[in-house]
Amino acid sequence: MKFEKNILCIGAGYVGGPTMSVIALKCPEYKVTVVDINKDRINQWNSDNLPIYEPGLDEVVNSCRGKNLFFTTDVANGIKEADIIFVSVNTPTKTFGEGAGMASDLQYWEKTAHEIIEHSDRDKIIVEKSTLPVRTAEALDKILSSNEKGINFEIVSNPEFLAEGTAIKDLIDGDRVLIGSHNTEAGLKAAKAISNIYAHWMTDEKILTTNLWSSELTKLVANAFLAQRISSVNSISALCEKTDADISEISYAVGKDSRIGSKFLNASVGFGGSCFRKDILNLVYIARSYGLIEVADYWEMVIKMNEYQETRFVNKMVKEMFNTVADKKIAVFGFAFKANTGDTRESPAIVIIKKLLEERANIAITDPKALKNARLDLEGIDQNVSYEPDPYKAADGSSAIALATEWDEFKDLDYKRIYDSMKKPAFIFDGRNILNHKELFDIGFNVYPIGKASLTHF
Ligand SMILES: NC(=O)c1ccc[n+]([C@@H]2O[C@H](COP(=O)([O-])OP(=O)(O)OC[C@H]3O[C@@H](n4cnc5c(N)ncnc54)[C@H](O)[C@@H]3O)[C@@H](O)[C@H]2O)c1
Repeated sequence: MKFEKNILCIGAGYVGGPTMSVIALKCPEYKVTVVDINKDRINQWNSDNLPIYEPGLDEVVNSCRGKNLFFTTDVANGIKEADIIFVSVNTPTKTFGEGAGMASDLQYWEKTAHEIIEHSDRDKIIVEKSTLPVRTAEALDKILSSNEKGINFEIVSNPEFLAEGTAIKDLIDGDRVLIGSHNTEAGLKAAKAISNIYAHWMTDEKILTTNLWSSELTKLVANAFLAQRISSVNSISALCEKTDADISEISYAVGKDSRIGSKFLNASVGFGGSCFRKDILNLVYIARSYGLIEVADYWEMVIKMNEYQETRFVNKMVKEMFNTVADKKIAVFGFAFKANTGDTRESPAIVIIKKLLEERANIAITDPKALKNARLDLEGIDQNVSYEPDPYKAADGSSAIALATEWDEFKDLDYKRIYDSMKKPAFIFDGRNILNHKELFDIGFNVYPIGKASLTHF
């Protein structure tokens, strides 16, 4: 079959894979190819066992793969064939040199830019899909226009707003798509080509166009605002625990104000995921590098409050369990950074478990989708850790349960059966406030929610 356009995505990760699968689904006349240097990842995309878990993803991939959706390691040919190249490689926090621990590490991006030059023989649109510092497109422009083949690469920014766990839903019915371009004839033409893709399933009102720098910065700001809400509510949860106010009641009442809204107001053990921390650190670094110290300090507090909340949770566990967890078995319910994903990057569970291991506890982790990643994250420090798909077995013989991820599966367990199998006194620390605390208390547990009075038998 002859396709109208060839779309390539470099980077078959949590963003590249689902995004391109949905584009292939909605645009059958386009050929969509996803390339990655990670051979294992590509093999998994071509198997029945996809490398990431997302509700609805299997169905979308199965309906398009081999028709107009292809996964391959052949980066060179992918680039050569493509009219439009989305770049969705990882942009982690830099771990070395200037800006270490704060700035974005753009080495994967720069390598990709050089590969694009090497394998291209005609004009192409290059789409920044990864989250990048504001004005990255300027540097990219310089690299790409240094090519000696006379090729024009037009750069467009199209940051991704999907949330893991609801990626397919977000991609199909998102709040908006953002496309930033140079305000030149070529820039606007490129932006139009990208909006034409999304116009296959999204209404015009949802396709926003801005200048390049606004688009790049919007992504950082959106994540900073979302994380800020969580840190704000978490800061108040600490105050609730001192005053017997109830954070759920406060969140509900505050969220009823239509100027505030109800989303992202759940108190918890803290936010995780690959993006919030990294993107805010990046925002802080950028602000500081422009001399905007107060702006940088303001946003940095969002991260500090999150670290405080994670540490507060685990310190409370140790304190309530009579100041020692040494040699005690503790079941950790949930390792993914949130429900409905196997992704564990920056998961609060990692912080909790590391601290409990330092305190010489024995840990049993249970999670419906994240045990594979848990093993990788704890490699080398997991002599006293067991990985247990069955939550009942994880809890068997334990002194406490720490609930770290809000999986629905944990709500409906037989907690009487779990209680009977545990050492007494039995503790439960609900880091997501998803359990029925009164019922647990009546069974016999000592219950410690976030931001509410604890229910104890002492
Ligand atoms: N994960 C999310 O929820 C999310 C949401 C919105 C935006 N983002 C942003 O999207 C970007 C990608 O995130 P992700 O979670 O998909 O990352 P990821 O680590 O899951 O995937 C990135 C992939 O790029 C590949 N890669 C790196 N260099 C390459 C190269 N030169 N050629 C080919 N492949 C290469 C890696 O092997 C990896 O598989 C990041 O900038 C992130 O901030 C992520």
